[in-house]
This record gives sequence, structure tokens and C-alpha cells, in this order.
Amino acid sequence: MAPLRLLALIGSSRNEESETFKAIRLIEQKISQIRATEVETIFIQKLGLPFCDGCLTCVTTGEETCPEYSLIGPIAEKMDHADGIILGAPVYTFNVTGLMKNFVEYFMYKRNRPSFFGKKAIVIAAASGGGHKVVLDFLEGTASAWGCDVVSRMGISSSQMHKERYLQRVDEAAEDVAKTFVAEIAKGELGSPKFPQLMNFRAMQNMTRGQKGLKNYAYWEERNWLDAEYYTGAPVTPFARLMAGWIARKMRKSIRKGNVRPVR
Ligand SMILES: Cc1cc2nc3c(=O)[nH]c(=O)nc-3n(C[C@H](O)[C@H](O)[C@H](O)COP(=O)(O)O)c2cc1C
Repeated sequence: MAPLRLLALIGSSRNEESETFKAIRLIEQKISQIRATEVETIFIQKLGLPFCDGCLTCVTTGEETCPEYSLIGPIAEKMDHADGIILGAPVYTFNVTGLMKNFVEYFMYKRNRPSFFGKKAIVIAAASGGGHKVVLDFLEGTASAWGCDVVSRMGISSSQMHKERYLQRVDEAAEDVAKTFVAEIAKGELGSPKFPQLMNFRAMQNMTRGQKGLKNYAYWEERNWLDAEYYTGAPVTPFARLMAGWIARKMRKSIRKGNVRPVR
């Protein structure tokens, strides 16, 4: 059996020293005990990416026109070729690090033109005490919006990493994440979208319908997504499907009538 090809993207400026990386290494070791694995790790800090300048040409004309495409393009290709993607970041001020946030801003186009359907992902966060959920939700939402199926996640508390009992629990959680990741990659089935993913699809659909002439519109038209209920044919519960369709119609009506209210 061919080795699993995993790509880990680490958004801590402490790189090899970081607890995020160490937690991911632990999961990788557990994965290797189940199946031969090749892992490539990208430390985002070492890429030296400047801040996204917000030109939006990735969305309007294509990602190739991004001023940083020489850095972003090869990473997109590596993600394309990986069997599984790992996104890891620490919690800074109860949110994701600026490093990871800036990195995913360069992949905004992937939210508009997702392509990683069926690709499995896991997300990992490290905090000294709290704020894991915000970061895990952000990383999960990001990978899902790119098309990935996020199959497991883990947040660790770095301040507890010297305690025997806690280490044991992290070890057990890492084993569980590893088993799920490998099993889901092996199954290779398209995951069923959760309700937030359905809503994200509908929001993108409403937006893209108004983008005639842009690259996004052509991409969606080619794939027959402009009138679809979701990107893929993966099963969706009837209730979630109906709710998402109903909310999307309400959104469209508000936009058409100029009825959108400022957010307070
Ligand atoms: C600027 C900054 C902000 C932080 N904010 C939080 C926080 O909101 N909550 C928390 O529990 N830990 C916070 N921490 C602690 C880090 O999450 C913790 O040290 C973590 O282990 C860092 O991840 P790393 O080891 O992978 O670099 C913060 C650390 C820094 C440097």
C-alpha cells in the first residue's frame, strides 16, 4: 500500500519549538503506527509572506495574478496532492494567530472556488489555558470552505503539558484523532455537509450569482453550482436541506429589495 501523504501547515512563530507542532508530531507518530506515512511540514512563519494586500485579483481574475503566487502556488499544489491536510495554530488573544490568519487570506479564492472535495483534514490548536474552540472552529470552517471534510480535531493546553495525567489524556486523544484520520482517508467517501457548510454554500451561491464576468461565475457555471443545493452529491438530511434553501431564499429577497440592515 502506498504511504499516506500528509501536509501539515503550522501557524506558530515558534515553529519546531511550538506545542502546536509537538501535538501534531504526536498525532503523526500515531498515524505511522497504523500506516506508512510521509509528512511534509510547512512552517508558515518561514515562508516570509507579507500581509495580503487585499487586491482581490485572486477572486476576480484568478489566483495566478496574486502578487505572492510564487509562494502560494506551490503550496496549493502540495495541498492538491496530499491525501490529508493538517492545519495547526496556537490561540493568541482568544483567536487564531495573525500568522495563520494572513496565510489563509491568501487562499480566499479557494473559499470562492473550492476544489478539495473528499480530501480529509484535521485541525489542531494549542493555548496556554483557553480559547481553543474559536481557533478550532476557524480552522475547521476554513478547511471545510476549501472543500475538505474535517474529520477530527484536538486542542491542547500547553500549561498542562508537564503533568503526567494530562499527557496521558493528550496521548489518548491523539490516538483517537490519528485512527479517525487514517480510517476516513482509507474509506475515501465524500462527507455529508453539516448545516454551517450548507449555509456557507448558499451564501457563496448568492454572491457568485451576482458576479457575471468574473472567474468565480465561470467556475460555478461550469460545475452547475449556480442552481444546485450543494457542491457535491453527498447525502444531506432533508431538514437541513430545506432550512438552508429557505434561509437562502430569504437572503436573496433581502438583497434584491435592498432590505439588508447594518449589523449591530
Ligand atoms: C500574543 C499571545 C497571545 C496569547 N493569547 C492567549 C489566549 O488568549 N489564551 C491562552 O490560553 N493562551 C494564550 N497565549 C499562550 C499561547 O496560546 C500558548 O503559549 C501556546 O502554547 C502557544 O502555542 P505554540 O506553543 O504552538 O506556539 C498567548 C500567547 C501569546 C504570545
